[in-house]
Amino acid sequence: MPLSFVSKLKNASNVFTFRDFILLPGRSDVEPKEIKLTTRLSRNISLELPFVSSPMDTVTEWRMAVEMARLGGAGVIHRNLSVEDQVEQVKKVKASKVEARSRDSRGAPLVGASISPLDAKRSEALDKVADFLVADVAHFHNSNVLRAAAKLLPNLSKDFIAGNIGTRRAVHDIVAELPRVDGFRVGIGSGSVCITSEVTRVGAPTLFAVAEVGTALHEQNVDVPIIADGGIRGAGDASLALAAGASTVMLGSLLAGAEESPSKVLVRNGKKMKVHRGMASAAARKARFALDRYSVPAKGLDEGVEAYVPYAGTTEDVLSGIANGLRASFGYAGAKGIRDLWNVASFGVVSAVGYTELGSHSLTLKGGR
Ligand code: XMP
Repeated sequence: MPLSFVSKLKNASNVFTFRDFILLPGRSDVEPKEIKLTTRLSRNISLELPFVSSPMDTVTEWRMAVEMARLGGAGVIHRNLSVEDQVEQVKKVKASKVEARSRDSRGAPLVGASISPLDAKRSEALDKVADFLVADVAHFHNSNVLRAAAKLLPNLSKDFIAGNIGTRRAVHDIVAELPRVDGFRVGIGSGSVCITSEVTRVGAPTLFAVAEVGTALHEQNVDVPIIADGGIRGAGDASLALAAGASTVMLGSLLAGAEESPSKVLVRNGKKMKVHRGMASAAARKARFALDRYSVPAKGLDEGVEAYVPYAGTTEDVLSGIANGLRASFGYAGAKGIRDLWNVASFGVVSAVGYTELGSHSLTLKGGR
């Protein structure tokens, strides 16, 4: 028996979320247009923009991935389809004739594929065609997953991004037990369509997870970039995630509404909408290909919901809106770029009572908000 349950509660970590913090204004020597958003996605891959589209079946298939690469970010093809179909999706991106800002050594658009370490066949097939692999399991810090990844990695040649994780301890174990790791995908329970924390009361909210993982990497002197994944609702959240040590942000719901996401535009109550769904929602689990994203007892459990998101126009419009917001935020914080932000950012804590003061308030908005 643990010695004291009370002391466990009293010494509990403060699991801060995006709503708990703001960045404080800092001395600024740069104008927003001079701010550079170039960054690293993984050990060997750099990007012009710090945006990665989520491997979800309502977010990233070949059209979204082509557009992400064209604009300077990167897309990760989801795995809720057969191995052959996923390989086909990647090949379509590679064969696309766009002028991509993110590209491979032959000039073709850069593209990632999501895999599960428990599925060696898929991982090895995708390693042959994609530029990087992103582990797509809800809890990478699991002994079976770690053992499978350790066995798989010697057979892979592309950059391997481990995830999702959310604690320092996970970083220590991964670094100790895997032959290599080229990036971390970080955050558990913050996703817009994710109800893991609601259902299980377990989670590592994205901002907390990024800071934990960033600190562990620093402690261990491991220079590998972090993707902040889940719960990014706009440029402000992206800016906080980057300030806490992330190099890129992964976007799900913000891109599910974009023109290039896989689902069709619907009209509901006179408004254009698109469908977005969690990969552990009952609807997504029906396709059955990504069931090993979740642990055995959780396979029958809904850890995600299906929802509508407003139609958001083109991916280009969505990304340029967030990029402009980031530049404005970096300008206030006094940072010339992402690495600089890691050094100069200082955070302020927002109380739950004070939170409303930071949005529009004490008036009736014309738009009826
Ligand atoms: P946003 O907030 O950008 O988050 O839509 C996208 C991320 O959410 C995660 N994801 C899930 N998490 N149950 C979960 O617990 C789910 O059904 C689910 N589907 C997606 C995933 O990390 C994604 O990138």
